[in-house]
Amino acid sequence: MGSSANTGIDYSELHRIDSPANRALRVDLWRQGDDLGQHSFVTPAYFRAYAQRLGMGPGIRVLDVGSGTGGPAIYMAEVSGCDMTGLEVNEVGIEVANRLAANTTVQDRVRFVQADGMQMPFEDASFDIVISMNVMNVFEDKVGLFREVRRVLRPGGTWAFLSGTFDFGPEDDDVRDRLARGYAIPQYTDTLAGYKAKLREAGFVVDEVVEYLSDFRETMQRWLDAWIKHRDAIAEEQGAEQTDYHIVYFTSYLEMIDAGKASNHFVISTRPDD
Ligand SMILES: C[S@@+](CC[C@H](N)C(=O)[O-])C[C@H]1O[C@@H](n2cnc3c(N)ncnc32)[C@H](O)[C@@H]1O
Repeated sequence: MGSSANTGIDYSELHRIDSPANRALRVDLWRQGDDLGQHSFVTPAYFRAYAQRLGMGPGIRVLDVGSGTGGPAIYMAEVSGCDMTGLEVNEVGIEVANRLAANTTVQDRVRFVQADGMQMPFEDASFDIVISMNVMNVFEDKVGLFREVRRVLRPGGTWAFLSGTFDFGPEDDDVRDRLARGYAIPQYTDTLAGYKAKLREAGFVVDEVVEYLSDFRETMQRWLDAWIKHRDAIAEEQGAEQTDYHIVYFTSYLEMIDAGKASNHFVISTRPDD
């Protein structure tokens, strides 16, 4: 299965992290030791903190929804000792993830499955923890996604996701449109209050919300600067249209952050016992 028409930009080119243009971009983007192949705003220090806060450890079954190139999932398995499954819709992401995992000591505890988060090919109650980083905006039906996460999570299990949160007003139609073009579909953004209400509707109890702003803004700026610096090489390799849309996307996102209308939250919730 390839990436479906409903999943926004096709990550195939971005997931080829070893291509010349992507390599040059990523060297500028990440500080030494921070590049795990991620397409999110999260550095290894955050992944270590999540693994500890969420209780990942030997024998704990963890699912990463929208695992991308698999680098973050592999890293969390390495630092925690957990059993990790990455679910990803894009086939290039799965290929890269399997390749990265094959070079590690955790290959027996990590697997990658190509599927849509809305219909996960797992039995009920298969996982103790479900995590997802910077993927929520692709899902139009968030209550539907949360119900699917609830189904595959055991009672008492934890669901934690990191997502951009947006407070658009009527005056923001232009920037909303630019963000949508940057991502090739409407961004199905939500407010923090919207996320909390939808989690409750899907049967979760919200335990903790952490807001990241300074680090998030800094990393967003680094993405933008790196895209601008390597624009021509990326355009030649991956097409000018998508490249320029990305630059518009990050510029618009920063505009919203600086207007106090966009942030990034880590939301931790529990599936109560039945
Ligand atoms: C911004 S990237 C984040 C990737 C990864 N979580 C990370 O931290 O690097 C979003 C990912 O979601 C994947 N994705 C998009 N729609 C999806 C869907 N319906 N089900 C599963 N994954 C999806 C994309 O292919 C992409 O790899």
